[in-house]
Amino acid sequence: PFDWYRRMREEAPVRYDADRQTWDVFLYEDVKRVLNDDETFSADPREADDFVEPEEPGEGLILDTMLFKDPPRHDELRGVVDEWFQPRRLRDREPHFRDLAGELLDDAVGAEGRMDVVGDLASPFPVTVIAELLGVPPSDRDRFKTWSDALVAAASDDEGAEAYADRQRQTQMEMAQYFLEMIESRREEPRDDLLSVIVTAESEGGGRLSREEALGMCILLLVAGNITTTNLVANAVRCFADADADLLDELRADDRALERAVEEVLRYRSPVQAMSRVAAEPVTMRGETIEAGDRVIAWIGSANRDDCQFASAETFRPDRSPNQHLGFGHGTHYCLGAPLARLEAKVGLSELLDRVERLRLTDEPLQPTRSSFVYGVESLPIRYDERR
Ligand code: HEM
Repeated sequence: PFDWYRRMREEAPVRYDADRQTWDVFLYEDVKRVLNDDETFSADPREADDFVEPEEPGEGLILDTMLFKDPPRHDELRGVVDEWFQPRRLRDREPHFRDLAGELLDDAVGAEGRMDVVGDLASPFPVTVIAELLGVPPSDRDRFKTWSDALVAAASDDEGAEAYADRQRQTQMEMAQYFLEMIESRREEPRDDLLSVIVTAESEGGGRLSREEALGMCILLLVAGNITTTNLVANAVRCFADADADLLDELRADDRALERAVEEVLRYRSPVQAMSRVAAEPVTMRGETIEAGDRVIAWIGSANRDDCQFASAETFRPDRSPNQHLGFGHGTHYCLGAPLARLEAKVGLSELLDRVERLRLTDEPLQPTRSSFVYGVESLPIRYDERR
């Protein structure tokens, strides 16, 4: 998409696409504003003129989550689980996360010198981690993965809009049923996990969360960090395989260097390329007037390559600093899971680099992730020499 972004930044940085009936915004400054200015740009899809209310209760659970709410309700919902995603809180779990990544890699890395970074590490690792934090059995992880992939998937070419909507609905209903049972069991026996935090907030006097909001939150937390973190790890390996051989030595030797490189992957190959908003009031940008109720797409992937903000924006520079990328969004909805995603990426990549050297891509063609806003690959076969 990067050539298209560049052309749009030059020719039509704010433009209306009549086919999709949406505005597109491409420049760093503008994307940052759309993400941050929540009085002008609402995160609530219900604000859109063309919004159709879901027919059945349960179908719209995801709409009742922090991701799609504006303040003040947004802040109340986020406040329920905020504490759990603080870096200092996660730090205690790092050794355990390392063990999880290590086990996956020990099964995959061998003398034959081939593996699939996605299937062997980048996909199962975040699903296992979030299942543990939530407190649902990691053995259900195949089911979680199917659900999360289905929710972020774009409609496939051979499927009509109705079949697609049906499938989305079905997925949400299955997840709601699953979490309803989990919530019931936790009510009787609270534990040290996110599910118990959510159940407590739901049953507290005054009800900080409705039942629907509690279910929506479980679904959001299970889904938001899977395909995104999978593609952060996979996109990182793609960047590293293209870079100088010395880079891998440096990343092995220095955690700070690895952390900086991960930030650059978030900029250069952003796993989330776009987020959606609705204008809450009329607003003029770059001479174009956006009316209240119009949908607006903020192209994060384009903002992150805007050379008004980044020197040599089209070049991967693993030591780039400062690096004010918008890969986790900006402002009110700044990614809740950013500290977790950063930790998972660092741990997963460093465990991988401990085991392999001379890492390179194969000539097999790469299949893009089936989603309209997630950027990455379905699988990433690599060759390497085993490190001993
Ligand atoms: C929000 C990206 C991992 C949970 C966001 C947003 C972005 C983003 C761009 C902003 C959405 C908006 O402005 O509308 C990413 C990327 C990830 C990642 C690139 C991995 C590399 C995670 C993880 C979790 C998570 C691991 C948690 C398990 C959330 C939640 C929100 C969010 C709950 C909504 C926050 C709010 O509305 O206040 N993420 N995310 N994300 N993310 Fe992430």
